[in-house]
Amino acid sequence: MNQILIVDNEKSMRDFLSIVLKKEGYRCKTAEDGEQALKMVENEGADLVITDIKMPKMDGLSLLKALKASSPETATVMMTAFASTETAIEAMKEGAYDYLTKPFQIDEVKLIIKNVLERKTLRQENNQLRRELKSHADFTQIIGKSHKMRQVLALVEKVADNKSNVLITGESGTGKEMIARAIHYNSSRKDHPFVTVNCSALPENLLESELFGHMKGSFTGAISNKPGLFETADNGSILLDEIGETSLAIQVKLLRVLQERELRRVGGTKDIKVDIRIIAATNKNLEDLIAEGKFREDLYYRLDVIPIHLPPLRDRPEDVPLLAHFFLQKYNENLAKSIEGIAPEVLHLLMQHEWRGNVRELENVLERAVALTTNKTLSLEDFSGNLMKAPQSIPLPSDIPEEGLDLEALISKIEKELLIKALHETHWVKKEAAKRLHLNFRSFRYRLAKYDIKRHRKENRDANLLAS
Ligand SMILES: Nc1ncnc2c1ncn2[C@@H]1O[C@H](COP(=O)(O)OP(=O)(O)OP(=O)(O)O)[C@@H](O)[C@H]1O
Ligand SMILES: [Mg+2]
Repeated sequence: MNQILIVDNEKSMRDFLSIVLKKEGYRCKTAEDGEQALKMVENEGADLVITDIKMPKMDGLSLLKALKASSPETATVMMTAFASTETAIEAMKEGAYDYLTKPFQIDEVKLIIKNVLERKTLRQENNQLRRELKSHADFTQIIGKSHKMRQVLALVEKVADNKSNVLITGESGTGKEMIARAIHYNSSRKDHPFVTVNCSALPENLLESELFGHMKGSFTGAISNKPGLFETADNGSILLDEIGETSLAIQVKLLRVLQERELRRVGGTKDIKVDIRIIAATNKNLEDLIAEGKFREDLYYRLDVIPIHLPPLRDRPEDVPLLAHFFLQKYNENLAKSIEGIAPEVLHLLMQHEWRGNVRELENVLERAVALTTNKTLSLEDFSGNLMKAPQSIPLPSDIPEEGLDLEALISKIEKELLIKALHETHWVKKEAAKRLHLNFRSFRYRLAKYDIKRHRKENRDANLLAS
């Protein structure tokens, strides 16, 4: 229960507010002036202080400043006379949550107090997340508190400073390049170059001359001698991104660099030694590519000395709130915004979302919301409809297990999920949902009853918010 302290030298005002707010279920105390109020807050604490401006001893503004210093968690609301909105503005500048202009309506008081306390709770939750963020954003600004990400980070720290090749795998947007950077910048090579090559971006012959360099005249357009990226990365690290996209011819040449740390420029005759850490990344399954004859097995084993797999975001939903806050801060700074936080129902939906584009998709969604919102906190309306989709959860077995499977039960599960999904997507307009599933209303209703599908209170609220 929230504790409110009412500060006014007029007894009638103290009594009036006390009665109104107690009726609303708040615990209330009163003080006659700023000095008394400050002592009470320091001794007993308070969630909210509502204070008059003009009072003997310590006035409202001084109380505000003193509270800000001694009890920053306490929210404040200033009461002003009709004529002195300037003081109200000054109070807001000093950090008051809101102000009430006398004489006020009971409903107005109730609403303002309710809003202020809600904002205060949200601010506290967000501060909590921010603190958590600090302790989980470790040496490299890689966010993650899930067990899976902690394992990845521990591995990164352990292997950063040795020379073994690393193969980073994971779906698109899971942070492969970020991990590669972390490895380099946590190694003793950090003061030397970190070079990344996207192997899928260039046609074979260009990629070859990019990587290995070329000698003047070795092909049309080779107007001078040019070192390749392997040479540029000497003493540092090189990330061969999308390694699964390289041709077999390039793979042979890569193998030589990996085995002997030695290469020859295109058209060159001299062998050049390089001292490099090689990190490769791919979102492909290289073992499948090997089976299809598209990737050399010997190269795979050379690269896969230290395998690091980045789990998709949907497998670590506990990282989503931290990441979302991290990106909120990032885009607050980039876009010069000052959004205070993210509403709990949004976080809930973000955690359920499938995130096929993984962290990159989450980042884009947050950037768009921060850029476009006019709210103080990000709420449902700041996110486009595709976030509201129910999560996909029933995987179809790729083959029938030996012990068999219960077809009826599986079909029921799928049916139930699709019914819920249709309801979700039509914001529980049942007729609409039935139509989407090509069912007549009766048979739709029959199915809802059969699976006991009812709307939860939270979904009601989400739908209302959406509609408003
Ligand atoms: N754990 C994380 N903490 C903070 N930011 C992250 C995290 N994971 C990914 N990101 C951010 O998400 C974006 C995508 O990451 P990155 O480019 O490393 O992914 P990728 O796996 O290389 O993707 P692709 O396969 O598409 O190249 C980047 O902006 C990166 O900073
Ligand atoms: Mg990448």
